Amino acid sequence: MIITDKYSFHGELLVPGDKSISHRSIMFGAISNGLTTVSNFLQGADCLSTIACFRKMGIAIENSGKQIYIQGKGLHGLAAPAGILDVGNSGTTTRLISGILAGQPFESSLDGDASIRRRPMKRIFTPLSQMGAEFESWNPDTFPYSLQATDSGCAPFTVRGRHLHGIHYQSPVASAQVKSAVLLAGLYAEGETSVTEPVLSRNHTELMLSGFGAKVTSDGRTATVKPQPKLEGQDVHVPGDISSAAYFIALGLLTPHSEILIKNVGVNPTRDGMIQAALAMGGNLTLLNEHTVSGEPVADILVKSSSLHGTVISGEMIPTLIDEIPILAVMAAFAEGTTVIRDAKELKVKESDRIAVISENLTAMGGSITPTDDGMSIEGGKPLHGTQIQTHLDHRIAMAFTIAGLNAPGETTLDDERCAAISYPSFYDDILALAD
Ligand code: S3P
Repeated sequence: MIITDKYSFHGELLVPGDKSISHRSIMFGAISNGLTTVSNFLQGADCLSTIACFRKMGIAIENSGKQIYIQGKGLHGLAAPAGILDVGNSGTTTRLISGILAGQPFESSLDGDASIRRRPMKRIFTPLSQMGAEFESWNPDTFPYSLQATDSGCAPFTVRGRHLHGIHYQSPVASAQVKSAVLLAGLYAEGETSVTEPVLSRNHTELMLSGFGAKVTSDGRTATVKPQPKLEGQDVHVPGDISSAAYFIALGLLTPHSEILIKNVGVNPTRDGMIQAALAMGGNLTLLNEHTVSGEPVADILVKSSSLHGTVISGEMIPTLIDEIPILAVMAAFAEGTTVIRDAKELKVKESDRIAVISENLTAMGGSITPTDDGMSIEGGKPLHGTQIQTHLDHRIAMAFTIAGLNAPGETTLDDERCAAISYPSFYDDILALAD
């Protein structure tokens, strides 16, 4: 695939369902009583990994392509998995499911691809062990044929479910995956469980678990759950993913003579940093038709070509746009002036080391970027040119640099564009549908 800057973009677009909410709909449906239906579910590889894992634990899940039907078996209805749970590329599957597995009367082993085997899991092992569960990581080179224990704190690993007790966990990282793992384990614990984060992360677990009947309360940066709820199946409608809409926000803003209406996008304030950052950069962006669906705020987003300028992205804003930093860095490279991104050390432990990989690729395109330990500084306005992009099989890098290539003279190619299907299977078709 060759990407050039010969197009402008017009029209309406529906981005696929939100990845975080899609994962949670399967998990919470599986541990609730009765039928859960999910519409606008994200049919990306990550969410399909979550479905496969719960099927392996005896949950009947039908995927018609349009709707998902989950026959939940209640909080205590999961069966010991027949074989290893394959989490693929999905950090959300790995960490959230571990919270549920921690409270089961059986042990389970999880493994995934090369990227997941590098990602830090001690961040969930620590609190879930404090609650009583046991974890053991295995040497990936010999797993599963010969089990050699390591202290890597990574996958592959085994979770030994135990009788849990509630804790108050002061999380060292602002991570919704850590928070959610602890809250889900809290459903199985004796006594109350709460998590305090350094900065509030996305709150989809709190919102959706309450919708299924759990007693969850939030007070600032602390979320608390009461144990042993009777969860009931629900009809969930998943809003469009703001993390996927982000590429089209950038495409509309950066490309001259363009106007794109992105419909039905989730704009939960714990996720809307991309909108705030685009506005701070001078983007012509308007929210229309704001309403609430399945407890989540939703809106249409209208974007028009704009002259962008640099900004500072830091502090409490970071968790609200953590997955959008690759595309924000691309926007910054086209903006006038300097953009500084700080407090984003978490970028190093995503699907790739995104500080390094963004820097490598922006530099290859002719951009001026200085990586730092917790972010980067980008001097915008340097003329970029097409080049070969190294995606490191990171879906968000592939999509961000596709948008860069659509605005840079010369030809841009990606070493492997197929990884976009992790979160956005129709990404390239959706771009072509808007091109003129
Ligand atoms: C997610 C939380 C974020 C995000 C990931 C999805 C979730 O990770 O980067 O893509 O669904 O909870 P962290 O919470 O670990 O930052």
